Amino acid sequence: MSLYYKSHIFCCVNKRDASNPRGCCASKDAERLRNYMKDRCKALGIKNIRVNSAGCLDRCEFGPTMVIYPEGIWYHYDSVEDAEEIIQQHIIGGKTVERLLLPPADTAA
Ligand code: FES
Repeated sequence: MSLYYKSHIFCCVNKRDASNPRGCCASKDAERLRNYMKDRCKALGIKNIRVNSAGCLDRCEFGPTMVIYPEGIWYHYDSVEDAEEIIQQHIIGGKTVERLLLPPADTAA
């Protein structure tokens, strides 16, 4: 079976009211970081991937969050440097960025 995309990257950009105790990724600069991911992947000429804006991925406390399929790897990232590391190491290099990993055991309180 061949995949239509080699990697499909979902970046949460969900926005909630400031009074919501869970917070939201949008309040932590998620849209700018998602745009960086998309623009940078395009500029680097990376083929067969898709960077999508996503609604809430339900791990708000750890945001901004993204999940990359088909691997099912979750990351927390909060700077363009983090985003760049994910692009270079994970997407191009095929290696997990351990320091940004959001382990399955990290669940919302
Ligand atoms: S608001 Fe981003 S994971 Fe919920």
